[in-house]
Amino acid sequence: MTRNYCSQTGTFPAVRMRRLRYNKLVRELVQETTITPNKLIYPLFVRSGKGIRTPISSMPGVFQLSIDELVREVNVLKDLGIGGILLFGIPETKDACGSDATSDNGIIAQAVRAVKDAVQDKLMVVTDLCFCEYTDHGHCGILADLAGHIDVDNDATLKIIAEQALVHARAGADLVAPSGMIDGMIGAIRTAFDQNRFEHLPIMSYSAKYASGFYGPFREAAESTPQFGDRRSYQMDPATAEQALREVELDLVEGADIVMVKPAMAYLDIMRMVREHFPNVPLAAYNVSGEYSMVKAASERGWIDESRIVRETLTAIHRAGAGIIITYWAKDIAQNVL
Ligand code: PBG
Repeated sequence: MTRNYCSQTGTFPAVRMRRLRYNKLVRELVQETTITPNKLIYPLFVRSGKGIRTPISSMPGVFQLSIDELVREVNVLKDLGIGGILLFGIPETKDACGSDATSDNGIIAQAVRAVKDAVQDKLMVVTDLCFCEYTDHGHCGILADLAGHIDVDNDATLKIIAEQALVHARAGADLVAPSGMIDGMIGAIRTAFDQNRFEHLPIMSYSAKYASGFYGPFREAAESTPQFGDRRSYQMDPATAEQALREVELDLVEGADIVMVKPAMAYLDIMRMVREHFPNVPLAAYNVSGEYSMVKAASERGWIDESRIVRETLTAIHRAGAGIIITYWAKDIAQNVL
């Protein structure tokens, strides 16, 4: 559709668009998008042990923390006004069905209890709900031989997803974020919650999660690299867009409260599509590890200005339609050091 703006607003020289840009005050007045810390979620990685703060070499500024260090961290974060933290657990032992994730004494259950104890209602605790960090094979569920090819067994995985969700709920998570791209996962979690007096607990679904090379550095941080194959049989193909709308719709029908597009920078078109088709649904975007590492690497070389790039990127993600952004820069933005 062609729109003729000039017939409504006049033309040059009566109209000069530069008037709305001539100084900082007027530019800020007409801004349509602002970045505020309370819309940002900060991912954190927790592992067992004491006094541990292991740097992730591919993600400068990101660490694996033991629970005591995590508690120190959240005591700082709780006063910064950020939207929340997103917790990933790295268990001491991994097995074929990720047992640590379904135990009330597993790493994530212990971490959530410790964090909630420290921060109470001052900080939202979101939990990533997936099995790739917990399985010895590194895939996002239980494996099965499906007529000659080894793959994630969808429906068997749904059973342990429901158990895992209840572990997170009992530990005190404020919001769960299932990221496995298992068909029916939202329905399974919703049913488990509703049958166990957690009907109030919301779900943020990684609805349109693409099989992406941008997750590379995260897999070092979470120790979740698949030991064989890849995730293309469950995560979305980057060459599809319309499927994202079906994924979102199914999740909403199953009871998702917030939907997500992931990664962010290369998928702004998907966010825009979701926003236009589902204008009333809260939409999140995950500004993933590879997006972070690329900017860090280039800024370390002095090739780009990190602060400008980060602010421009987060603005673009908001502009594309995501109100909530998960980003490793959340703390820096909130502390205004970026
Ligand atoms: C799965 C999960 C992944 C990320 C978030 N949740 C990795 C994957 O799907 O392989 C990636 C996040 C990032 O790259 O920052 N538990």
